[in-house]
Amino acid sequence: MKYSSGIPAVDRYVEHDYDSVFGMSSQFAAIIAAHVMDRQTKLGIKGNIAEIGTFEGRFYIAMTLATQPGERGVGIDTFEWPSPKVRDKLHAHMERLGVRTADQTILTANSENLTAADISKAVGGGPVRFFHIDGDHTPKALKHDLDLAYAVMHEKGVICLDDMLHPGFPLLTVAVFDWLEKHPDMRVFCVIDREDIVAAPKFMLCRHEAAELYEQDLLASFPDWHFEAASQWEKWVAIVLTPHPRFAIVE
Ligand SMILES: C[S@@+](CC[C@H](N)C(=O)[O-])C[C@H]1O[C@@H](n2cnc3c(N)ncnc32)[C@H](O)[C@@H]1O
Repeated sequence: MKYSSGIPAVDRYVEHDYDSVFGMSSQFAAIIAAHVMDRQTKLGIKGNIAEIGTFEGRFYIAMTLATQPGERGVGIDTFEWPSPKVRDKLHAHMERLGVRTADQTILTANSENLTAADISKAVGGGPVRFFHIDGDHTPKALKHDLDLAYAVMHEKGVICLDDMLHPGFPLLTVAVFDWLEKHPDMRVFCVIDREDIVAAPKFMLCRHEAAELYEQDLLASFPDWHFEAASQWEKWVAIVLTPHPRFAIVE
């Protein structure tokens, strides 16, 4: 096992079954996200999980395996691509991989049409402590999805954004920056690289006061994967975790 989240069920899933669920999130990102959820549990931060862009469930299953009894989840997708059968695949993967399916609500919806009340209802009320956004990759949709996540998040919760700095979606980072300008209580506290420093990472966001709950713990838990040149955000810096900390070698 290359990486460990500290949650045996997640580590087993990532090591043995992750590749059997077609998807786009990396093993490394799932491990770091689960570690952050484990940290929340140890700090007594209780809440639900949510994901926009659940697809076959690759990342969502890791999130569900990091929840505690009594916590619920909602997975949201239009489930149209590549065909509506993708929803059946998600259900089959969850059954096969030991997810407490009774605690999960799978919503077939375009997030554009959802309100915070819809998400709260889907998780049976209560705040969301970890929200993964991986749906429509346009700036407008990302801002809408961030608004949804912000409205339902636990005050010490985390919003995780996929495909930041992806060459195919360069304006998403601009959208995040715009959104953060309007939400000065929030910041990026960690950039999770995919499998390599030159690939498209995830951002993790939280309230300023909550950042210290996560930063030092991540640095202490993953010292070998810390890229020492931090991520510069003008008013703050975020830590960068990558399986290959190095500067790009350009020939
Ligand atoms: C990149 S895939 C998600 C991959 C998945 N999260 C993983 O880790 O493997 C993006 C998904 O977002 C969904 N999607 C795109 N726009 C959406 C929207 N507006 N509302 C809900 N889901 C959307 C697509 O149907 C697709 O399944």
